[in-house]
Amino acid sequence: MDEVVISGLTKNFGDLVAVDHMELNIPGGTIFGLLGPNGAGKSTTTRLLSTLLRPTDGTAVVCEFDIIEDPVRVREITGVLPEEGNHTVYPSLTAYENLVYFGKLYSVPEEELPERIEELLTFMGLWDRKDDKAGELSTGNRQRLALCRAMLHRPRVLLLDEPTSALDPIAAKRVRDLILNLSRQYGQTFFINSHNLPEVQRVCNRIAIIDEGKILLEGNTQELREKLLAKQEFRIRIVGDIEKASSIAKSMDFVQEVKEEVDSIIVTIEDPTTNNSALMQSLLFAGIKIVEFAEEEATLEDLYLDVVKEGDV
Ligand SMILES: Nc1ncnc2c1ncn2[C@@H]1O[C@H](COP(=O)(O)OP(=O)(O)O)[C@@H](O)[C@H]1O
Ligand SMILES: [Mg+2]
Repeated sequence: MDEVVISGLTKNFGDLVAVDHMELNIPGGTIFGLLGPNGAGKSTTTRLLSTLLRPTDGTAVVCEFDIIEDPVRVREITGVLPEEGNHTVYPSLTAYENLVYFGKLYSVPEEELPERIEELLTFMGLWDRKDDKAGELSTGNRQRLALCRAMLHRPRVLLLDEPTSALDPIAAKRVRDLILNLSRQYGQTFFINSHNLPEVQRVCNRIAIIDEGKILLEGNTQELREKLLAKQEFRIRIVGDIEKASSIAKSMDFVQEVKEEVDSIIVTIEDPTTNNSALMQSLLFAGIKIVEFAEEEATLEDLYLDVVKEGDV
């Protein structure tokens, strides 16, 4: 069943259309990634879904509750980590005290609260930090505490806005691992905003690319990869003159595109079974030493760069 159903969702700020007639269905248990450059409309979408903003037009239904008609129920069923999420805990309270405070705010039954707090802090690897003031935690730990806060009332849907953007690579990886573990353990639906493609690729099983408030592309990660595999890209790693190799490749009529990297050219080749060897011969003939000639692994980066206008990113 779809746990998030977005229909015609639109938000204008004056003349600016931040979210433009968005249509999206997200099945329960999905780790969904909304990927797009800065200013694309990701945070506005999250604010709409978490009922902090009211749409100009259209609506969304979260676990059968309409964001316009049932905002209170929507808030009960969603956990939110807003942009700059690590500022959503009180720095002068300890990690534990923060969760007691928010547990009461979310009406978590008082007798269940200590057990839930211990479970969450342990799960997030923060139990031994429970008596540290939130303000004295590292940014990564504070972000994990903010995730605990968002999870405290056991929401079915978690809305996470750039959950790792303020974190160093190690802290970011820990948060990603936690998201995967949480999903395995509790099976909630995640709606994650990110401008970081590799991150989305690692964590999400369904992705939409958004720019200027519009969804440009949507699908499960596997489908998107398959779309890319049709592209027939090959990486030719060489020792020698990249520019020379590149201009040779460009001069061949079956080569559709050439990109240059520090030690490689990436070529898109028509009918590679017949043409790869011709290209290889021309390069060798020109004295270029080929270290590797391999099918390029499908990444979502090209797709992303294809659909998001250059200069936006
Ligand atoms: N409260 C607001 N008032 C006016 N413009 C806003 C407001 N919030 C967001 N915007 C504009 O809406 C667009 C989308 O912003 P946002 O949703 O924050 O993008 P993202 O999270 O993808 O970076 C941007 O052009 C931003 O400047
Ligand atoms: Mg944002």
